[in-house]
Amino acid sequence: MRLFTASVVLSLLPFTTAWPNVMEMDRQLKKREEPPPRDPLFKSGRPNTGLPALGFNAEEQLVNVASGSGHEFQSPRTGDIRGQCPGLNAAANHNFIPRNGLLTTAQTIQGLGDAYNMSPDLALFLAVVSTALAGDPVSNRWSIGGNFTPTVPIFPANGIAGTHNQYEGDASIVRGDAYLNGGSVGVFQMRSWEHLYQLAETYTLDDVAAQSDYVTRWSILNNPYYFSAPFSGLVAPAAHNFVIHFMSNHSAENPGGFLSREVLKSFFAVTGDGPGNFVHNRGQERIPENWYKRPLANAYNLPEVGVDVNINNLMYPGIVRIGGNTGITDSFAGVDLTDLTGGVFNTADLADGNKAACFLLQASLAGLPDISNPLLGAVGSVLGWTTQQLGPLSSKFGCPPLANFDNQLFNPFPGASFKGSGN
Ligand code: HEM
Ligand SMILES: *[C@@H]1O[C@H](CO)[C@@H](O)[C@H](O)[C@H]1NC(C)=O
Repeated sequence: MRLFTASVVLSLLPFTTAWPNVMEMDRQLKKREEPPPRDPLFKSGRPNTGLPALGFNAEEQLVNVASGSGHEFQSPRTGDIRGQCPGLNAAANHNFIPRNGLLTTAQTIQGLGDAYNMSPDLALFLAVVSTALAGDPVSNRWSIGGNFTPTVPIFPANGIAGTHNQYEGDASIVRGDAYLNGGSVGVFQMRSWEHLYQLAETYTLDDVAAQSDYVTRWSILNNPYYFSAPFSGLVAPAAHNFVIHFMSNHSAENPGGFLSREVLKSFFAVTGDGPGNFVHNRGQERIPENWYKRPLANAYNLPEVGVDVNINNLMYPGIVRIGGNTGITDSFAGVDLTDLTGGVFNTADLADGNKAACFLLQASLAGLPDISNPLLGAVGSVLGWTTQQLGPLSSKFGCPPLANFDNQLFNPFPGASFKGSGN
C-alpha cells in the first residue's frame, strides 16, 4: 500500500493493479456499523472564509493554472512523492510546491500562499512540525507523503504519511483509520466521501462540521484502536475546515466563497456523477481552471484554525476529544486536557484565538522524536530546533511556557502506540 512512498514501487505497480486491494478494504468497511443521525445544537451560518470576507480582487485571487502559466496540472512522475493530504498533493501537481513532494519551510510558505492564501505563520508552523516529526531539520526538508533519504541517517524522515497519532489521525474527512486498513493512513474511504458529497450541493463550514461529527462517531463505533491525541486529534477536525477555507471558489458576487461539487471533486481527485459510480484517482488532485482563492486580506491563520474547530465542537460536542477506545469498539474513555497539561490548558481555551494558537504550538511538541545531534548546532536536539523555529510565533501569540504533557495518561489506550505503516 505504499504507493507513493518508493519510486520503485510506483513504477512497477500501475494504478489499476493496486485498486482491487483498496476496493476490497472499502467493501469490508461498508459492513460496519453506522452511527445514528444527529442534529447540531445550532448552525453557525458563517461564510466559507470563516470571518467575513474583506473584498474580492480578481487579479490577485485568480490562481492561474492555464497552459503556459508554469502551474499546469501534471500527474506525479515516477519518484514523485504524494500523500494523504489533498491540498499538498494538488499544490505539488501544479508546481506551487516542488513536484517531487519534498520541500523546505520557505517553499511551503511561498507555495501555499500562492496557491491558497494560507498565512505565512500557519504555513511556517505546519512545515516546522512536518520537518521535526518526520523530516530532516539539517537540510530543512520534509515530505508530503512517504520517506526520503535525510542528510544524516539519524532522522527517521518518514514523511507526514508516517506520523500516525502525531500529525495524522483517525476520523479524517475522507481517508480511513490506519488500524482498519492494515496500518495504511491514506486509503480513500468511499463511504466517507459519499457521506460528505451528499451533505449539500454547495458546501459550508457547517456541512463539514456535520461530517467531522459523523466520522468521529463512526470511528468510535467501529475502530477498537480509535485514538485522538492532543495534536493529531485537533489536526483531523481542522483539516475538515481546510476543505472549505482553501478549496472554495470566490467572486465579486460571493466574496465569502462557495464550494461546488465539481470543485470539491477536482481537489479530491474524484470523477463520476454520483454515489455508486465515483472513482478516486489516487495522486491526481487538481486545482480547477478559473478558480479564485480566498482574499489575501483573509489569509487563513493559526488562531482561526483553533477557533473554527471550537465552533464545530460547540455545534456537535465531541468533535474535540482527547483519549480513545480501550481495545474494543465503542469504549471511548477521555483524558482530561487539564490533567494532561498540568492545568495550563483546557478545551474552552480553543474559543480564544491566541490561546488556541498556543495550545496547537505546544501540543505539536509533545510527540517529537528524541534525537540529539551536533549537526543541529547550538540547539542540539530536534526539540531544541523546533522550539527555536516556533519561538517567534509563541512570543507573538503571548503563549505561556510549555506545559509538561503527562504522556503516561495514554497507557490504557492500545491505539496510542499503534504505528501506521505509511500511505
Ligand atoms: C504545510 C501545509 C500542510 C500540512 C503539513 C498538511 C498536513 C496534513 C496531514 C498530516 C493530514 C492528515 C490529517 C488527518 O489524519 O486527517 C492532512 C489531511 C488533510 N489536509 Fe493537509 N496539510 C497542509 C496543507 C493543507 C492545505 C493547504 C489543504 C487544503 C487545500 C489541506 C487539506 C487537507 C485535507 C482536506 C485533509 C484530510 C484528507 C482526507 O481525509 O481525505 N491541507 N494534511
Ligand atoms: C469560480 O467562480 C467564477 C465566478 O462565478 C466562475 O466564473 C468560475 O467558473 C468558477 N470557477 C470554478 C472552477 O468553478
